[in-house]
Parts: sequence; C-alpha cells; structure tokens
Amino acid sequence: MSSPFAKNFKKIRNFYIVLSSKRCFPAEIKGEQQLEGRLAKQKTRRTFSAAFICVKIKIVQIDILTLFPQMFQSPLSAGIFKRAIDRKLVGINIHNIRDYTHDKHHTVDDYPYGGGAGMVLKPEPIFEAVEAIKSNISHKQGDNAVPIILLTPQGRPLSQQIAVELSKYSRLILICGHYEGVDERVREHLVTDEISIGDYVLSGGELAAMVVIDAVVRLVPGVLGSEVSALDDSYATGLLEYPQYTRPPVYREWVVPEVLLSGNHAQVAKWQREQAIIRTAERRPELLDKANLSSEERQLADRSKQP
Ligand code: ADE
Repeated sequence: MSSPFAKNFKKIRNFYIVLSSKRCFPAEIKGEQQLEGRLAKQKTRRTFSAAFICVKIKIVQIDILTLFPQMFQSPLSAGIFKRAIDRKLVGINIHNIRDYTHDKHHTVDDYPYGGGAGMVLKPEPIFEAVEAIKSNISHKQGDNAVPIILLTPQGRPLSQQIAVELSKYSRLILICGHYEGVDERVREHLVTDEISIGDYVLSGGELAAMVVIDAVVRLVPGVLGSEVSALDDSYATGLLEYPQYTRPPVYREWVVPEVLLSGNHAQVAKWQREQAIIRTAERRPELLDKANLSSEERQLADRSKQP
C-alpha cells in the first residue's frame, strides 16, 4: 500500500479505516476508492476518535471470459453496474475467448470424442486466457486466492450465501461455457468453482455470469445508495422481505396499512418483522428452518403456513 497513511490503516472486513489527523484526498490513496461521511462515521464511531476518518474500500476486479462480449455491453452500461464502475468500486473486464486462439479460423470448439451431438469448447484458449489474466495479478493479491468460476448447470446452486462469499474476494474470474459443454480438463485443472443459477439450461453462461456479478456487486460496500439496504434484502435476514409501500397513501380504493403512517418506529419495525415471517411461511416455508425466530415468532410462522 503506497499511501502516506499506510501505517495508520486498520483493516476491518472489506474496509480499510484510515486514521489521520488531516483530511485525506483521493489522490493520496491511489487506485482505491475513498468514501467519507455517514458510512465512515457508522463504522468507526465506536472504535476510533480521529479528527478525520476515511473509509477506503477494496476495488473488486472481475474478469469474464466469453465468446460473446457484446452481450455484456448493455447490462454493464446501466443501473448498478454503471454506478459501481463509475465510482471505481468495481472493475469489469470482458475477454473474448476467441482472442486466445492461434489458428487462422480462430477455432474455439471441436467435435466431442466418442461422438454425440453438439460441439465442445476447446481447452487451449480458455487456459491461455486465464493464464494471461493471472499473470497481471500482483503477487500481493495472491493469484492462487482468485476464484476461477465456471458457469454451468452442473455447478453449485447460487444463493445469497455464495454471493456474500464471493463479494469478499478482490478478484474473480468467470468463464462462460457454451455449446454442449467445456472440455473436462478445464474443470479438472483450471476452475476452482462451478456455479449454476438454477435447474434449467441456458444457451450459454453469459446470462448466468451477469446474474452472479449482479448479486455480488451490490454487496460491495458503497455500491448501493443506502448501506443498510443489502442487509434487509430477502435472504440476507433468512426471511423474505416484508411488503413495501410508497405514496400515495390511498390509490384507487387501496390503502397503505395504517401502522406505516403512524410514525411509531417500534410499531413499524414489529409489523415489518411479522409480515416478513408471514410471507416466508406462506411462500417459502423451508427457509424458516434456518431463520432465527423467537418462540412467539415460530408460532406466528406455524399459523401462517399454507395447509
Ligand atoms: N449455463 C447454461 N445453463 C446454466 C445455468 N443454469 N447456470 C449457469 N450456467 C449455465
């Protein structure tokens, strides 16, 4: 870390807390994002009492290997991705697997040994692409610590827990499979993880990669508008989210529940918790097994389960 404040850094989970008696500016913290204000105060108020405290956030660098780079153009240029990229909290590089071929026709696939329908992605360009990316990863980042994830229906099913796990890395490499599959040697000797986004078969791993990076990027501190909103998400609490309302208080003849207009924060929080439990019991009762519920809440859940 080249910052003049290096000796004053304290790392707390994904955050670097900078303790400084003078204000620090982005130029002084090269290559990483500095965030000041509410988050800094929240995270540090109890622990430190420096004159100025900056919270520095690790940039997450994601490399995606694909045969169809153009598929990523539009999703990455709007919404959460654009915001994260513009704020330099996340860097996303799209690599065309075809660029790592050496023959005249840029061949990326071939017939399967043993016969069968469809084509199989060749191992050479995928290995070479990953090796080229890894050669640019500094020793400090530890290239062995970089997950190399193949998107495939055979992978472990994506969950919020997996998204949280992946959001802790500063680098991720995603490989989008295609055609009938990928040469098994890629699985055996290159990838460290395989992820599926559901029990259905897509025509390629690109949409799955977008789903994975969306779930991960929104967990990167500073990406969401409100730092607490990811914590309230469905699944983050182990429960589905409670119903949300906004103005107007009456639309057609449908009214917003009175408690939400009451201004009584304790009552609102109680209502939201109950609604989350009822909703989970009605729609996804199996999630309740792992949810942390009081005995009263468990009774409410049991009463709310569909017969
Ligand atoms: N590629 C094709 N289908 C997929 C799926 N369900 N999940 C991840 N990658 C895939």
